[in-house]
Amino acid sequence: MVLDYSSDEIAVVRRAIAPPPPKPPEGVIEAMRPAEGMPVPDHMPPFWKLSDLEMPLFMRLTGDPVVKALSRYAFFPEVFKRLQSGQDIPNLNFSGRARGMVAILEFPDRSIVIKPLQSSREDQIAKIAGEAGVGPVQLESLPGYLTEEFVLGTFFTELPTDRLTEDFLSGVGFALGDLIRRLHQADIYYNDVTLSDPRGRSHFLVDEHGSCRLIDFGISVLLDRHPAVSREDVHNFVRTLPMYRLFRGIAEDEAQVDRFLEEYAGKLAASSKSEITSRDLEFIQQGLKMAGRRMGDRIIQPVQEGFMRGYRG
Ligand SMILES: Nc1ncnc2c1ncn2[C@@H]1O[C@H](COP(=O)(O)OP(=O)(O)OP(=O)(O)O)[C@@H](O)[C@H]1O
Ligand SMILES: [Mg+2]
Repeated sequence: MVLDYSSDEIAVVRRAIAPPPPKPPEGVIEAMRPAEGMPVPDHMPPFWKLSDLEMPLFMRLTGDPVVKALSRYAFFPEVFKRLQSGQDIPNLNFSGRARGMVAILEFPDRSIVIKPLQSSREDQIAKIAGEAGVGPVQLESLPGYLTEEFVLGTFFTELPTDRLTEDFLSGVGFALGDLIRRLHQADIYYNDVTLSDPRGRSHFLVDEHGSCRLIDFGISVLLDRHPAVSREDVHNFVRTLPMYRLFRGIAEDEAQVDRFLEEYAGKLAASSKSEITSRDLEFIQQGLKMAGRRMGDRIIQPVQEGFMRGYRG
C-alpha cells in the first residue's frame, strides 16, 4: 500500500512540515546522513523536525519511494488522497522567485500548485478570488501553504502574434477589466504586475478560448477593515511604490523605515477604498505600455478600450 502510515503518524508528519519550519540547524542536517560520509537525502530536510523525537518514523520516510519522489508534498491532502486512491506519482516541477518554492504537481487529469503563503491573509484573499472566478480555485491545504488549481493558459505577454487580432485583444482587455472590477468589488486591491513587468513577466493568463484569470495574490491587500490597516498591509502597499524602493536604499536605520510606514498608514486610512484600488489601474496602464514595447504598440488601444468597458461593468 502506498503511504502506509497510521492517521496519528500522518498528523505528526503534517505538524512537522506545516507551517513550513525554519531552516534546520547545521547539527540536525549532519545527523540526517544515513551513514558516515553519505549525503543527506534531498527529500528529507522538510521533515527535520521529526528527526529528534520521531526517529523510527523519520527512518521510514527516508526509505519510502513515494516520499523520495515527492518529499513533503506527498502529505498534502490533495496529493495524499489521489495517491491513496491509486493514481500514479505526479511529476513535480518548481517555479517562483519572491515567495520561494512554488511546486507544480502534474496528475493525469489536472495539475495542482502548492506554494507557501507570502502574507498572512493570502489564503483568505485567494479563496475570495477563486470563488469569484478571478483566480485559481483553492483546494484543501495545510497551514502556511496554498494548494490551488493550476490555471491553464499562456501569459498575456507570451501570446503568439497570430492571435493578436483587434477583436481578440479587445476581448482580453474586457476580460481583464471584468476581473479587476470583481476584485475591487470584493475589497481586494491586487497590487501586482498584472500585464507585464519590464522583463515581460505577467500574472495574467489567457487560455485557448480567450478566457482569462489572474494568479498570485501574495502582495494583495484585503481592504475589509479599512480605514484600519495592519502593518503588513501598509508594507505590501508601499513595496510596489518605486519611491519606497529608493527610500529603503537610502534609509539610515530601521526606525526611519518604521516612521515612514507609520506615516503611510495614516495616508491609507485617510484615502478612500477607491483611491487605493485605483493604483491597480495605473499598474495596468504601465504594464500595457511595457507589453506594447514587446508585442507592438498597436496592441495598446484595443486592450485599453476593452478594459474600460469591462471595468465599468
Ligand atoms: N495557480 C497557478 N496556475 C498556473 N501557474 C501558476 C500558478 N501559480 C503559480 N504558477 C506559476 O508559477 C510561477 C510563480 O508563482 P507565483 O507568481 O505565485 O510566485 P512568485 O514567487 O511570485 O514568482 P514570480 O516572482 O515568478 O512571480 C508563476 O509565474 C506561474 O508561472
Ligand atoms: Mg508572482
